[in-house]
Amino acid sequence: MKLAKSSRFSPTSGPVVTIVLDGVGISPREDGDAVKAARTPMLDKLMANFPMTKLLAHGKAVGMPSDEDMGNSEVGHNAIGAGRVFAQGAKLVAESIASGHLWQGHAWQEVVAAAKQGGTLHFLGLFSDGNVHSHIDHLKAMIERAKQEGVGKVRLHILLDGRDVGETSALDYVDPFEAYLDGLRSADFDVAVASGGGRMKITMDRYEADWSMVQRGWDIHVKGEGRQFASAHEAIETYRNELGVIDQDLPGFVIAKDGQPLGKIVDGDAVVFYNFRGDRAIEISRAFTEETFCPFHRGALPKVTYAGMMQYDGDTKLPPRFLVEPPAIDRTMGEYLAKNGVSQYAISETQKYGHVTYFWNGNRSGKFDDALETYVEIPSDVVPFEQRPWMKCAEITDALIAAIRSGQYKYLRVNYANGDMVGHTGNFEAAVTAMQGLDLQLARLIPVILEAGGVALITADHGNADEMYELDKKGNVTRDAEGRTKAKTSHTLNPVPFVLVSGEADPAYKLRDDLAAPGLSNIAATVLNLLGYEAPQDYDPSLIVPA
Ligand code: 3PG
Ligand code: CO
Repeated sequence: MKLAKSSRFSPTSGPVVTIVLDGVGISPREDGDAVKAARTPMLDKLMANFPMTKLLAHGKAVGMPSDEDMGNSEVGHNAIGAGRVFAQGAKLVAESIASGHLWQGHAWQEVVAAAKQGGTLHFLGLFSDGNVHSHIDHLKAMIERAKQEGVGKVRLHILLDGRDVGETSALDYVDPFEAYLDGLRSADFDVAVASGGGRMKITMDRYEADWSMVQRGWDIHVKGEGRQFASAHEAIETYRNELGVIDQDLPGFVIAKDGQPLGKIVDGDAVVFYNFRGDRAIEISRAFTEETFCPFHRGALPKVTYAGMMQYDGDTKLPPRFLVEPPAIDRTMGEYLAKNGVSQYAISETQKYGHVTYFWNGNRSGKFDDALETYVEIPSDVVPFEQRPWMKCAEITDALIAAIRSGQYKYLRVNYANGDMVGHTGNFEAAVTAMQGLDLQLARLIPVILEAGGVALITADHGNADEMYELDKKGNVTRDAEGRTKAKTSHTLNPVPFVLVSGEADPAYKLRDDLAAPGLSNIAATVLNLLGYEAPQDYDPSLIVPA
């Protein structure tokens, strides 16, 4: 994996620093755009005075099935880190179902075999068509196939979304789904929703930010312990009336009849966790598969046949049984740099720590070379982020500045979570504050990079804070009769900035203007060029050429 020294580009004298402003896209409109509404003098100055272009960060440009699919952090960081576009989980699963390949795999056959020996087949996952972590069509295809193959009893554990889809859209999925289940149910096919809850309250924690979420999910899905309701519809309506929270924050619920939970998970059952994306699938998968397990008290571990939709971590091989091969992301820029002796530093706060390490490195949790790589995680607050929109951007900047000044690292990368995590709350004012907090940090960071003779690449993995209000089909902000907007919590289809900041008066390179539709996958070759290397042949082209 030797990289050729470039004859066209000499290495920058100081470090190259990639700054990912998570969830900060460029919207074509002003209305509802917290990025534009915020006072961000530093970002404005950088965008006005340094070479800048826009990069595609959604749809096919990041390996999603279609250009209607918004970007997300997994596919965005994969593309940035790998320098190429790989068909991603959403696409691979849809194809595996369409071709029938999924049903031929060992994992599916073992799951069905367990259920046919008298166990219940449980499907657990995010319940929407957001296509970021999962898709409801995949779930339906599996339920239908299970019925065809003679499985007698199926139970569904549904995590309500409101984060990758409309913030209060749960019933738009639940009601038609119940009708769909009525159509499938028969004397020899018993199917029902057994439990559920909001995805930010139970089960789908990531990067060990808050294991208590997973514990609450475990109690609800596995033990059937929690507040009981006759149906998911009733649970959602009751909680909404009582608490006034949006879908992602709805508490867990257990569906019960005569006080008996409809679908506890017990010895002999099979469990399919049907999310394809890994970050929020890892903790619950560990809870189901690890013999010795410390993060919370599980009680007796039921002996189940557990399968993930994909293998979520290529280094730890978790979970061992999975339905669809994950994208074969190889030879990432992190690996090339490690194998060519370039020292690297990666930093973020907990909520995005794995984005800038695990996703960046092609869904591998380990390092390539311990001696050359330093990964730093600043613990995130465990609070609703609209209450702390600055999050940990100042602490991250403190550490990053120290790392740059140490002179130890040639390549550094950082993810600032603010635009995305606060964008997901749907709170416009908080998102504006998030952007302003971030700008103060850029104003501290950029001069330090330039003093060190370095170059900063400012970009993002996808949009979010750039659209805080729901849009109609024509792309205009929707308003009700009283002129009120509806909060939008999900990502956007907008491109993201790419700003190339250097202290040199006359850099020996310039941005290319001949690439038809540059995207996130063009960043890796650019970084390698700035470090004085030619990019591997099959990497997508660099964004720079010699001046
Ligand atoms: C989440 O998991 O928080 C959202 O579904 C997607 O957000 P991310 O892709 O920015 O992490
Ligand atoms: Co996000």
